[in-house]
This record gives sequence, C-alpha cells and structure tokens, in this order.
Amino acid sequence: MLAGLRARPRAVPARWFYDRRGSELFEEITRLPEYYPTRTERAILEAHAGDVARLAGPGRAVVEFGSGSSAKTPLLLAAVAPAAYVPIDISGEFLRESSEELGTRFPGLPVLPVEADFLRPLALPQEIDARERLGFFPGSTIGNMGAVASVDLLRAMAATLGSGSMLLIGIDRVKDPATLVAAYDDAAGVTAAFNLNLLERANRELGGDVPVDAFRHVAIWNDEASRIEMHLEAVRDIAFTLGGDAFAMLAGETIHTENSHKYGPRDARLLLRSAGWAPLAEWTDPDDRFALILAEARTEPAAP
Ligand code: TRP
Repeated sequence: MLAGLRARPRAVPARWFYDRRGSELFEEITRLPEYYPTRTERAILEAHAGDVARLAGPGRAVVEFGSGSSAKTPLLLAAVAPAAYVPIDISGEFLRESSEELGTRFPGLPVLPVEADFLRPLALPQEIDARERLGFFPGSTIGNMGAVASVDLLRAMAATLGSGSMLLIGIDRVKDPATLVAAYDDAAGVTAAFNLNLLERANRELGGDVPVDAFRHVAIWNDEASRIEMHLEAVRDIAFTLGGDAFAMLAGETIHTENSHKYGPRDARLLLRSAGWAPLAEWTDPDDRFALILAEARTEPAAP
C-alpha cells in the first residue's frame, strides 16, 4: 500500500478493498441497476447450469476462487451434485458466514472454506485429495488483472486444481463505453463509497490522516488497454501521513485503485488457451454482454 502510494503513477493493490465493509459494499454494487455483470452472469448460470453438469459430470469438488458471499454458488451446486465445496476468500469473517449459510442450504455437502489470497500459491484441503476438481471463478474477477497476471493466475489454478480439472469462468465482454462507465460509476454513489472505503481502511489499519473527503471516485474507459480504470482523484492539494510516512498530492493527481479488463469472444478464448485451459463450451446472454466459459485443463497438442 505505502509503496504503491509512493510510486508514479500511484497505484495500490485491489485486495485493500475487501475488508468487512468493502465486501458488504461490493455486495451492494452487485444489486445496482447499472451494474449488469452480476445479474447477467446469474441468468446465464440459471439457464445453463444443467449443461455444465452434463459436461463436468457428478462427484467433483467445486473450488471457488474469491467466493465473497457465494451468491451464485447455489445455482451451480444444485446442478452439478458435487462431492464437496471449497470456497476460497481473503475476507475470513465473510467467508465463515457464507460457508455456514451454504452448509445449511446443502445438508450433507462438505463445505471446506479456505481463508487465503488466491493470487498466492495455496493448498486445498486434503479431504478432496481423491476428487477431480471443478474450479469456479465467476464475476469477471479475471478482468481485475492485467494480461500477464491473468495468465499466471490461470496457470496457477490449473496447477492447484490438478489434472482432469475443469474451470467455469465468467468474463465480461467489451461493449459500448457508456454502459461500461455507468456500471463502475453508479448514480447512487455506492461504487464511489466502495472505492473511498480503501482510504478509510488505510487510515484505520495503517494509522493515518488521509483526508478522505478530499478525494473523488473516477471511472474511465481506457480503450487502448481494453479496461475500465478506477481512480481516486485529489480534488485539492493535500498532505497527509500514513503508516508513519508523509505524502503530498496535487489537485487532479490520482491513485489508481482498480482495473476491469473486458474481452471480446476470441480474446477470452485465447486468454484461456494461453494458460493451458481449452474452452469446451461457452454461454452468453441474448445481448452478449457477458460470457460464461467452461474449459478443461489440457496440454496443447504439438504445433502442426
Ligand atoms: N470483477 C468485478 C468487476 O470488475 C468486480 C469488481 C472489482 C468491481 N472491483 C470493482 C466492481 C469495483 C465494481 C467496482 O466488475
């Protein structure tokens, strides 16, 4: 965090968003009228969970990366008849609550939560050692990484999940910039609160006097990089201390807090192939706003 604030351009790791309050605000974002990804992905999953089940077969361990409130998970679990469910999330308290809820909803299903940052190597619970895995990575979270990090993560997932595994991944599509920007800058200001919460958390946890009211939330479409960028822009010249370090920012300077990359149909498939995942099937909504792709871990055949 402090190193990111010192860097130029200033950029801080997105995992700082997800404290308790941040996770709750994010859940609120997913219900906003402008934020289409969650409800679109849910509708696709509702329509096609049966297809996923048919292709994946029963008895797999479902491993969800960044499970949050596990809101979409019941749709998948009800369809695929898994042997176990392993939610992985960085927000421990949130993880335990949603795991408990899921356990009640699916009596008899072992729910084995792992509190971890899935961007780092992690061990799966040994209870699922004998099971083939179905990875679940919804919400277009892959878009929050750049190209190199995305491929690294998808390859690491293939390694974590092991041979014979499959991955069901949600990826948001490139679309008109107005729709995209509105999804990340809603009229009610919830996304702004989510973004600003990062500074409040930093003040609280690192000890600081960052003047949160001197920042405003900015969302822009960067066409060249095919991504929405979120920034916190200083609205006046400010000076503050954080974690014992002194910082100064001029009016108009920003802290880059998040990216959300968007993919065309071919882009998404190529991304998966680049990381050793062969797309098996792909489903979208009628407006092609969002894609759900099922892929299998596979070593590529030698070039012809
Ligand atoms: N992966 C989602 C997305 O990019 C979730 C997300 C991450 C998000 N950061 C966000 C959503 C900030 C809204 C605002 O859409």
